[in-house]
Amino acid sequence: MATIGVFDSGVGGLSILDEALKQLPRHHYIYLADSANAPYGEKSASWIAKRSLQMCRYLVDQGCDAIVVACNTATAEAIAQIRSELQIPIIGVEPGIKPAAMQSQNGVVGVLATEATLNSDKFNALLATLPRHCRFIKQAGAGLVPLIEDGQIESPAMHALLQTHLKGIVEAQADTLVLGCTHYPFLKNQIKELIGTSITIVDTSDAVVRQLSRQLLQHRLAEESGVASLKLLSTANADTLLAMAERLLQTPLSPRSVDQQSLMI
Ligand code: DGL
Repeated sequence: MATIGVFDSGVGGLSILDEALKQLPRHHYIYLADSANAPYGEKSASWIAKRSLQMCRYLVDQGCDAIVVACNTATAEAIAQIRSELQIPIIGVEPGIKPAAMQSQNGVVGVLATEATLNSDKFNALLATLPRHCRFIKQAGAGLVPLIEDGQIESPAMHALLQTHLKGIVEAQADTLVLGCTHYPFLKNQIKELIGTSITIVDTSDAVVRQLSRQLLQHRLAEESGVASLKLLSTANADTLLAMAERLLQTPLSPRSVDQQSLMI
């Protein structure tokens, strides 16, 4: 059994953890939410890089054999540095603009992500490799992460904010929408209500966990029988994180031992 760290600015990475618990249940997981500092998406590139490295170092000190940086923003600004400084497999996440470009029929793709991700060199370098005939409508999801962190997924405020953010994408008649922030899959139902079911939603959680699985195999970190565990760590309130995990995760927590802890880091 491997110990796998999953890190995000807050509860967004639970969307990746959910998929990991489904595909790779027999491991120990440590989920680290930097909720005291969320959202990352409106902070400077240098702050995000420094803090993300600090969070990953903490996970290595906790005995992690591999880390999923379950945050598009942290991946965009910090993954190269994290990989160069830490000697374990580091799996990142990035907006699925490549699969979206391949799937889109009319060549118009909406991308909802944080401002930091959309402005990052990494995202723009990836964008430059994609076919010119595809048009990307980029939209920063300002304000969405704080509402999700606050548990306001179905609130009227969320509905109004999503309506504003999705307007340009709908008006451009995009047929594909990329969710480029790990918090946003928790808004899928609300988004579908606003954009209809004819727009395909691309979220990369499944591909990220398949990549994790390949890395674990390569490093001979196989699943084994035994009691799997989940530790939920939060730089804000770990009881709130546990309540959010119980609400947002579709994979039942019950077969594994679960504990939670608030941290000052
Ligand atoms: N879940 C994050 C992401 O994927 C972070 C969002 C934020 O903290 O602004 O980008």
